[in-house]
Amino acid sequence: MSLLRAEGLTKSFGKTHALEGAGITIRAGEVVAVMGPSGSGKSTLLHCLAGILPPDSGTVHYGDRELTAMNDGERSELRRTEFGFVFQFGQLVPELTCLENVALPLRLSGMKRKDAERAARDWLGRLEVDGVADQRPGETSGGQGQRVAVARALVTGPKVIFADEPTGALDSLNGERVMHLLTTAARETGAAVVLVTHEPRVAAYSDREVVVRDGRSRDVEFAR
Ligand SMILES: Nc1ncnc2c1ncn2[C@@H]1O[C@H](COP(=O)(O)OP(=O)(O)OP(=O)(O)O)[C@@H](O)[C@H]1O
Ligand SMILES: [Mg+2]
Repeated sequence: MSLLRAEGLTKSFGKTHALEGAGITIRAGEVVAVMGPSGSGKSTLLHCLAGILPPDSGTVHYGDRELTAMNDGERSELRRTEFGFVFQFGQLVPELTCLENVALPLRLSGMKRKDAERAARDWLGRLEVDGVADQRPGETSGGQGQRVAVARALVTGPKVIFADEPTGALDSLNGERVMHLLTTAARETGAAVVLVTHEPRVAAYSDREVVVRDGRSRDVEFAR
């Protein structure tokens, strides 16, 4: 049973055909690595899948609901309640402490400050960055900041985590650690992960690989 399914996606930016009939299927709880050369359409595919960007044609289904047929309000509600996001950088609110950043999605959905901060502290601990709870994102290292971002993506208990090169700005040691913590935490909570990455050792963390080339995608099963 697929959790998220895209079929025949096309998307152009002016004369650039970013997607030309891309499709992908994500099952509940699996970690799928999206790979491919720069400019091949990976980020565009991820944004269409997550309902951030409307495709020109093609469909995206979340369970039995068609995401591409929803209005903006329904789509943002779905993103807020079912999805979590981790990007390469620049995603934490600089004025808030790391703890407040992780608590923010819970606060926005109406949780009391005390409860939200308790949950946030727990997630910072699971990502091994409880030490930066009271610091602002600008006062942390890149690797710590990404772990805080992962904690914020997971704190609401999403069904799907979308991660676009979450370790792209980190050295390989920190990158591996964040990749490990992200995929382990997702597996513990049962969240599926759609992971755009250039990490060479990605097979160690993912169940399946999808390669995007010239706006088209194809599944590659790892030989295990
Ligand atoms: N907002 C935009 N406006 C114009 N062109 C865009 C836009 N977003 C993407 N493109 C173009 O669409 C194509 C696919 O871009 P996309 O960002 O999806 O590639 P990518 O595979 O994520 O690349 P990278 O590995 O470098 O991040 C590229 O040619 C890019 O220049
Ligand atoms: Mg990209």
